[in-house]
Amino acid sequence: MSNTYYITTPIYYTNGEPHLGHVYCTVCTDVLARFHRLCGEDVHMLTGTDEHGIKMVKTAAALNTEPAALAHKNAMVFRDVWKEMGIINDDFIRTTEPRHKLSVQEIIRRMVARDDIYLSSYEGWYDEGQEEFVTETEAKVNEYKSAISGRPLLRYKEQSYFFRLSKYVPQVLKHIENHPDFVQPESRRNEVMSKIKAGVDDLSISRATLKWGIPLPNDPEHVVYVWIDALSNYITALGFGSMDETLYRKYWPGVHVIGKEILWFHCVYWPAMLLSLGEPLPKGIFAHGWWTSEGKKMSKSMGNFVDLERLRAIAKAYSNDALRYYMVRAGNFGSDLDWTEIDFIKSFNELANVLGNGLNRTIKMIGKYRDGKVPLVQAELEPIDRALVEKMDALGDAVRAAYLRYDLQAAATLPLELARQTNGYIESTEPFKLAKDPAKAQRLSTVLGLAAEAIAKALMALIPVLPEKAIEGLKQFNIDFAGKSFDELMNAKLPAGHQLGDGKPLFPKVEPSKD
Ligand code: MSP
Repeated sequence: MSNTYYITTPIYYTNGEPHLGHVYCTVCTDVLARFHRLCGEDVHMLTGTDEHGIKMVKTAAALNTEPAALAHKNAMVFRDVWKEMGIINDDFIRTTEPRHKLSVQEIIRRMVARDDIYLSSYEGWYDEGQEEFVTETEAKVNEYKSAISGRPLLRYKEQSYFFRLSKYVPQVLKHIENHPDFVQPESRRNEVMSKIKAGVDDLSISRATLKWGIPLPNDPEHVVYVWIDALSNYITALGFGSMDETLYRKYWPGVHVIGKEILWFHCVYWPAMLLSLGEPLPKGIFAHGWWTSEGKKMSKSMGNFVDLERLRAIAKAYSNDALRYYMVRAGNFGSDLDWTEIDFIKSFNELANVLGNGLNRTIKMIGKYRDGKVPLVQAELEPIDRALVEKMDALGDAVRAAYLRYDLQAAATLPLELARQTNGYIESTEPFKLAKDPAKAQRLSTVLGLAAEAIAKALMALIPVLPEKAIEGLKQFNIDFAGKSFDELMNAKLPAGHQLGDGKPLFPKVEPSKD
């Protein structure tokens, strides 16, 4: 079985800077990528920027600049922000790069050669914010406004090349039906299937009235429709259609993590394109939900927009990992979520009081009572010990299963539950009292040894979600995790006599900011 794992985020429009929605999608993808990397898989994670289309032209004009300049400026912000936030993307693709453009043209050439592209004319509605053609029925339902932004739809009437989407739709539908995991969560899968069954027309894939895009190889007066251009990124970044297809052969097919509003493009247009090319379909498409903020749609005018500046300030004050944890735990991966300041603080306090405190008191007690050396756990266990052991032994499998079903929330909270149980265990077994009675020395060793092992396990299981803090915590345990797989870590025992490092608060208290 192949040991590769290819995972992608959507490529983001460069008409603005990253905000909560983008950061959420990239962080969740990074969490999944890190988990698979930790499992020893050869992971390739891709993100990037979608720089063409009418929206870019209009935004640039409004800002009195050129689309290329605007795209470049924001692409650099996206690229740098991922570094700043500790995201490990193996590549960053920009749709204005020659490698992408050439490969897109090759893709079109192959589709033309298959007779899947023909010239006709398009007359209908277009949602410029979404860069999406909208059918008359959908347009009418939404009173000729965008279902996403609420802005009026535009009427387009122009000559255009079409892709024979309808030819491939039955095959796409069959694939979705036969592969229950292809589109997740299930509610989204059902949504796509019913929309397909309502009928799908061929797709206009070129614009003659737009200059900002990739020229069609067969008719350079037209540029490629931005979604055909953008979806191709998942394989152009791997060198598809170029002189060197090594990465493509190695990593494709992959898993796409996207937001729910771009499901249709990924589940219908993209598979149909791949079928036309005779290439394998993606392994899976996972659509996550949308964030609102303080109960309302995020909007700059409402003042509840969680923009980059805000996210940076939070990461600076509380750490990148506190932000990651909050986002992953805020709701089920796949459901809509709501950002609230109060919930953020609650989630940070959970990290500090449950995980940080569990770690700190364990290290401190072992320092104080056992010279910082992990004590020997006695063979004879009491029921309360056994309950803790059971929980820690089950953690690895439970977390792995959670990742494999894309349940990132459980993957993040299960280790916290173990830490919470460990704190309760310490409170019930009262090591500080045991320490006063020399006759209870062995009991104290067992309690401290088990508490240490449980906290260390919780930290190990949290590496994908809290890459900086989990490792900082493991360093306090003096555990060398380098090169160890998730299974090895989860099965590792802290040997008696193992010397711990120095303890210090993992999530130091944050003074409330003055502004
Ligand atoms: N360029 C297209 C994607 C092309 S992929 C071949 C695009 N870009 S975008 O900049 O609008 O980013 C879309 C992604 O950002 C969504 O799929 C989603 O992952 C994320 N989000 C944007 N706003 C969001 C929220 N309010 N909440 C959660 N995520 C949302 O579409």
